[in-house]
Amino acid sequence: MHESILVYRGFRYLKLSLWMVAIAVVAYIVHQPTVGPPNGGTALGYTLGTIGVLLIVWLAWFGVRKRRYGLGKVKLEDWLSAHVYLGLGLIVVATLHTGFQFGWNVHTLAYSLMIFVIVSGIFGIIVYVRFPRLMTENRRGSTQRDLLAQIAELNAKAREISVTLGDDIHNEVMASADKLALGGGALKQLSGRDRNCPVQHAVKRVGELVLGLPKSDAEKGRTVLSLLARKLELVERVRRDLRYKALMDIWLYVHVPVTFALLASLAAHIVSVFFYW
Ligand code: HEM
Ligand code: HEM
Repeated sequence: MHESILVYRGFRYLKLSLWMVAIAVVAYIVHQPTVGPPNGGTALGYTLGTIGVLLIVWLAWFGVRKRRYGLGKVKLEDWLSAHVYLGLGLIVVATLHTGFQFGWNVHTLAYSLMIFVIVSGIFGIIVYVRFPRLMTENRRGSTQRDLLAQIAELNAKAREISVTLGDDIHNEVMASADKLALGGGALKQLSGRDRNCPVQHAVKRVGELVLGLPKSDAEKGRTVLSLLARKLELVERVRRDLRYKALMDIWLYVHVPVTFALLASLAAHIVSVFFYW
């Protein structure tokens, strides 16, 4: 389903985008500006700039269209597939519009913001295509709720057995449950790990303590250790799951706000060129 966005309808939108790019390149090569070097102010420059703006407004409109499920004749898959390929083609159209004239001005600011949005979009489509499968593999048929329930069950079992194994081991087992933090701030979720993970600490420490147990308790000690090791594996899976989810969201925090900044700077660009003209 997710990969299919890229191959949608036999690459219809890739082909459309390549046609658009090819026509723009040929026009750029053929076109001879009446004065000066190629730039946004020539007849071709205006044409490509207008196409660029129309494309950008249409790409931004996807945010509105996305939320209107079930409405409209065109399917959401068509929109996304076209969004990706025409969004990539826009790089060529807008660059040819500028005639490769860049400077420290509002025009180049608009251009830079556009590149920013496109690069974040590329990140987004990679995530969109790859992550659903990685998430399914990581969860191995369980939901995140199941994983948390299994962790709670392991906690209870380990606690019950460790009560008889002395304070040192019992305290480690208790701390591995009480101090366990899943989720947390954005950076923590994105990293997918906790450097001071109490479960990791408990596995290491209980592993050492078990060696010092009397023979009669050794079996129980090993059971607690294996429960903790299993819990660590589950905790790592939950962290990976949260990490995938965070990565699937984070790029939109760039893509969408920068789209608004792009629209504003484009308005400034267009107003300013007409003002000075
Ligand atoms: C209706 C749409 C547009 C119009 C009428 C337009 C107009 C112009 C004009 C007249 C110039 C020449 C300015 C000069 O030589 O001083 C120019 C340059 C430029 N335009 Fe546009 N533009 C449009 C869309 C866009 C878009 C979509 C982008 C990119 C996001 C863009 C980025 C630039 C850049 C970077 C330059 C070069 C500035 C420089 O010379 O330093 N423009 N545009
Ligand atoms: C200047 C060009 C672009 C603009 C203005 C733009 C704008 C937008 C907007 C406003 C949304 C809706 C997001 C939301 O409201 O949740 C969106 C979604 C998206 N964009 Fe772009 N985009 C551009 C280029 C690209 C490119 C080049 C790619 C990929 C290579 C891309 C990939 C995506 C993806 C995958 C989504 C959908 C995510 C979802 O449905 O969850 N975009 N874009």
